[in-house]
Amino acid sequence: MKPLLFLTRLLPEPAIKLLEDNFTLKINPYNRSLTKQEIMENIKDADALICLLTDIIDKEIIDAAPKLKVISNYAVGYNNIDVEYAIKCGIVVCNTPGVLTETTADLTWALIMATCRRITESERFIRSGKFKGWEPMLMLGQDVNNKTLGILGMGRIGQAVAKRAVGFNMQIIYHNDIPLNQNLPYEATEVDFNTLLKEADILTLHIPLTENTYHLIGKNELEIMKDSAVLINTSRGPIIDEQELIRALSTKKIFAAGLDVYEQEPYIPPELLALDNVVLLPHIGSASIETRTKMALLAVENAISVIEGRKPPAMVKLT
Ligand code: DGY
Repeated sequence: MKPLLFLTRLLPEPAIKLLEDNFTLKINPYNRSLTKQEIMENIKDADALICLLTDIIDKEIIDAAPKLKVISNYAVGYNNIDVEYAIKCGIVVCNTPGVLTETTADLTWALIMATCRRITESERFIRSGKFKGWEPMLMLGQDVNNKTLGILGMGRIGQAVAKRAVGFNMQIIYHNDIPLNQNLPYEATEVDFNTLLKEADILTLHIPLTENTYHLIGKNELEIMKDSAVLINTSRGPIIDEQELIRALSTKKIFAAGLDVYEQEPYIPPELLALDNVVLLPHIGSASIETRTKMALLAVENAISVIEGRKPPAMVKLT
C-alpha cells in the first residue's frame, strides 16, 4: 500500500501527478485554508504532510499525527512550523529554497519602483478622473538610480536584489547577522545595522522571521532612517512593527513603504489601507506560474525523498 500524504491546498498540476504516482493522496477539498481542527482530523493517519505558510503546524497538530515522517512546507520561510518539536518527534521538516529567489527579487524590484515613483498612487489618481494634464509638481517621487540600496539579509534573495541594482548604478550596502564569507560579483559594502538604517535611501528586508527578528524594525529604527527613505518588505510581516510603520508613514517620518507581507495576514489595518504613501501587495513574492510550479515539485520531491529514506533536497536544520 502507498504511504498516505495529506496536502492542505491544491497545488499546480505537475505536482499533483507526481504525488498520485507516489502516494495515496488526500487533498483539502475546499478553496480555502483549513482550520486547525480540520488539519488535525486529516493528518491522523498521514505519513507525509505538504502544507502552506498559512498553516500553523504546532505541537498539537504534530501530536495528532503519530505516523508522520515528513512536513514539507510549500514555502522557503518556515516560521509557521514548530521545527524544534517536529525534529524532536523524529519528523523531517523541508522547505523550498532557491527556486523562488529570482522571482521574489523581481517582485522586490517591482515594489521598489512602484513605491519610489508612486506608481500605484498615480494609477488610482488617473482612474478616479483627477488627471487634468502635465504639471510640474505632479506625483513627484524619489529617484532609484544612483541612490543607496540597503539590504538587510544578504542571503540568496538579498543577493539577487543587489544584482539587479547594478544596472541602476546604485551604491549597495548590506547587513547580515553572520559575516558573508563570499566574494560578491559586484561592489557591495558590509555595514553595521545602524549604519544601514542611517544611510539607505531604500531599505529592503530579506531575513527570516524568528524570535530575534520580530519587530526588528520599530520606532527607534524608523527614527534613524532618512526622512526620504523607502522601506520594502517581501520577507515576513512581523519583522516590522506595523503600528510604528503606520505612524512613520502618516507623519512622513519616512517617504514611503512597499509591502508584500503583513503582521496578521490577511488582516491589513484600515489605517494602512488609508495611506497613499504605501504600496500594498497580497503576499505574491513568488507568485509566477513557473516558480509556483517549481516550488510545488520541490515540495513533492522533498516528501518523496524522506518517505523513500533518502536525504531530501531541502531539509530545514535547527540553527
Ligand atoms: C515563502 O516561500 O516563504 C514566500 O513567502 C512565499 O513563497
